[in-house]
Amino acid sequence: MDENKIPLHIGLIMDGNGRWAKKRLMPRSFGHNAGMNAMIKIAEHAKARGVKYLTVYTLSTENLLRPQEELEGLFGLFRKYFTKNVQKLYKSGAGVKVIGDITALPEDVQALLTDGEKNSPKDPAFTLIFAINYGARSEILRACNLAIEKGEKLDASGLEAFLYTNGVPEPDLIIRTGGEMRLSNFLLYQAAYSELYFTDTLFPDFDEGELDKALAEYAKRERRFGKI
Ligand code: IPE
Ligand code: IPE
Ligand code: MG
Repeated sequence: MDENKIPLHIGLIMDGNGRWAKKRLMPRSFGHNAGMNAMIKIAEHAKARGVKYLTVYTLSTENLLRPQEELEGLFGLFRKYFTKNVQKLYKSGAGVKVIGDITALPEDVQALLTDGEKNSPKDPAFTLIFAINYGARSEILRACNLAIEKGEKLDASGLEAFLYTNGVPEPDLIIRTGGEMRLSNFLLYQAAYSELYFTDTLFPDFDEGELDKALAEYAKRERRFGKI
């Protein structure tokens, strides 16, 4: 694979966990567990391919309105990842970052996420960014309000400094699994010139070979950014 054509930053909308479980006559939480395992493998593979940032959409602001039982299952997965799996990620020289309004999460989860960021290696070769209770609309509104509080008139770099993704390059490629062709409030500002890739594969089935297919498709795209 041509190294110059590897995206620096991939955004991943991990959709289809519920349908994957339903097909197996299992509860939705079973699908979310399988999705977490798939995500861990995809992160390792993305890192091995030379990707520097992977943003995984794990919970949208709208998802927070799902039944408490499903949310508890997801919080349990965050607890597990940020106590156990994150250690292996650090050992490989990689770090984590969290974007979204985590104040709406259980306090122990908030503490784990904050510690996870604090304990991350400095200048990591790869950063796994968790979008948790993330919504692009609230992110942009929050940035505007922060600027108003400071009495600042915003230009592009001023706005970007107030976004959760401050310091992270824009996603070159956004992948959505699960067959829907929409962004569902994911990185709307940052995705202005992202290449979009959609696949019917349900997220728990999205493996290393599937990521390679997306990378091969990305390598064929001609990015013009409005120029000729
Ligand atoms: C995506 O899978 C994961 C989250 C939104 C937390 P879904 O739970 O939306 O799965 P489907 O779309 O119902 O299959
Ligand atoms: C998008 O999936 C959010 C995540 C993958 C975390 P949804 O399942 O919530 O999106 P919609 O409702 O189909 O747009
Ligand atoms: Mg869905």
